[in-house]
Amino acid sequence: MENQIVNDNFWSEYARMYNKFTPSFQKKLLENISQYGFGTVGDFGCGVGKLHKHLANQNNSKLIHAIDSNKQMLDLASKNKPQNIDTIYSQLELNDFNSNQILPKYDSIYLINVLYANKNPIEILKQITPKLNQNGNLIIVDMKRKTNLEQLFQVLDDEYTGDKDLENYYHSNQILSQNSTPHAYSINELESIISLMGNFQTLEKNETHFLNNANCLIVKKN
Ligand SMILES: C[S@@+](CC[C@H](N)C(=O)[O-])C[C@H]1O[C@@H](n2cnc3c(N)ncnc32)[C@H](O)[C@@H]1O
Repeated sequence: MENQIVNDNFWSEYARMYNKFTPSFQKKLLENISQYGFGTVGDFGCGVGKLHKHLANQNNSKLIHAIDSNKQMLDLASKNKPQNIDTIYSQLELNDFNSNQILPKYDSIYLINVLYANKNPIEILKQITPKLNQNGNLIIVDMKRKTNLEQLFQVLDDEYTGDKDLENYYHSNQILSQNSTPHAYSINELESIISLMGNFQTLEKNETHFLNNANCLIVKKN
């Protein structure tokens, strides 16, 4: 956990609220990126598994490994799961999540809003990029260095009017956002880092998700 900008207790409390609130801008993002998932999918830092029903709708995935270092998140991901999903407890930088698995490689790897929450995102990318099959897709979404939480929560206020958890959820996101600043990459930096890790072709480079608050880089391994 030392690699992360918040501790395990933080994620445990965050999990219940994260599971409760899925604003329209998040659904839109998940729907959009789910089209890149096929074959064996690794959802790295899966949280409560919000991506999985979108992957199920696409019907291109055979098996999903949903990996996270927080038990509350994984419990909720197990409850939410709509298809063939294995939930796996691991810290991504430790590279131990395939030790008992027969499948060491993935056709698609998702890293959605995980890197910015870590002090050493490069270490995670170093562990993960070799696990992608040739012609496989790597889908990275990451909050920008500077995020407009007021703008995002205006939508949450409209869509979950009067919910008593909103204030607490805002406060938690403020903590995440304040602590992530030194570790968050611009989309060009991310693309350069990925290019140092192998031969990747950019399929999509988008800075407009989450109301212009998140970067989305989708690359294919040649
Ligand atoms: C903001 S949530 C995003 C969850 C999910 N990817 C989504 O988009 O809905 C970040 C998740 O990444 C997990 N996480 C962060 N750093 C991690 C690491 N180094 N190893 C494993 N999981 C990590 C946290 O436990 C948390 O569940």
